[in-house]
Amino acid sequence: MTGPDYDHFCRLVRQRSGLVLTPEKAYLVSSRLAPVARAEGLATVAELLAVLRIGASETLLQQAVDVMATHESYFFRDAAPFEQLAEAVLPPLIAARQAQRTLRIWCAACSSGQEPYSVAMILMEMGYRLAGWKLEILATDMSEPILRKASAGLYNDFEVNRGLSPERQARWFKQEPDGWRVSPKLQQMVRFRPHNLLQGSAGLGVFDVIFCRNVLIYFDIETKRQILDHVSRAMAADGSLLLGSAETVLGVSSAVEPVPGLRGLYRPAGRTLARSA
Ligand SMILES: C[S@@+](CC[C@H](N)C(=O)[O-])C[C@H]1O[C@@H](n2cnc3c(N)ncnc32)[C@H](O)[C@@H]1O
Repeated sequence: MTGPDYDHFCRLVRQRSGLVLTPEKAYLVSSRLAPVARAEGLATVAELLAVLRIGASETLLQQAVDVMATHESYFFRDAAPFEQLAEAVLPPLIAARQAQRTLRIWCAACSSGQEPYSVAMILMEMGYRLAGWKLEILATDMSEPILRKASAGLYNDFEVNRGLSPERQARWFKQEPDGWRVSPKLQQMVRFRPHNLLQGSAGLGVFDVIFCRNVLIYFDIETKRQILDHVSRAMAADGSLLLGSAETVLGVSSAVEPVPGLRGLYRPAGRTLARSA
């Protein structure tokens, strides 16, 4: 699939989401847009691409952009970031925030919610160390349909079997006729809202910990730099940033720097990690 309609669609997706579609992704575009074309009563994806170029409703434009995003996620994805959160990030923050007794965590590009709920489980499992604290997890994504799934907190057997230990499944999920529902305690801790990373982080406030995982890989280097610069401005001076295992700031942004020995963990440039009390 090539031609002006395809090129226009690639530009549309890039402008609205930052996602880069190269000519080799034509098969992906075709398979993801086919159901949208069918739902619109169009015979082919080529016809849909023409409609998107000539003039489509805002709803259809956004839907076509949304289906190009990959929403793959699972509980405690890659394990290490969540161990780092529990063992390297939270202890010094708990020591440093004894007066405020507040922690703010942002899961940017949270997809279907497994990441923020995993963070909520880690916080709850800190037990007495965070008892009585105000804990806020802001979970954002550009896709409203995926946020609806995330805030419902309902997962099928396959999803709960990916990354969750049987102990955590028993403790934090309740079986319902349609699947496994996250416990209300965890749901209360997470606030979901739409947010596009291209629009910066103004208005979201300052965060002690930011998860921005498995989304930068889809962007070009300039977009990665802009997003990392925005994200770093939303970090507390002693805050931490966790990126995906295939993502790095090296050669992209100097706003944050790697924490030595802890792969995937970053802090604002020029700071040394505070010691835990
Ligand atoms: C592969 S998922 C990552 C989910 C989770 N962070 C994880 O690591 O499991 C990528 C998510 O990024 C979202 N996304 C893509 N571009 C975005 C943008 N410009 N702003 C906000 N979210 C975006 C997609 O909708 C998708 O849900």
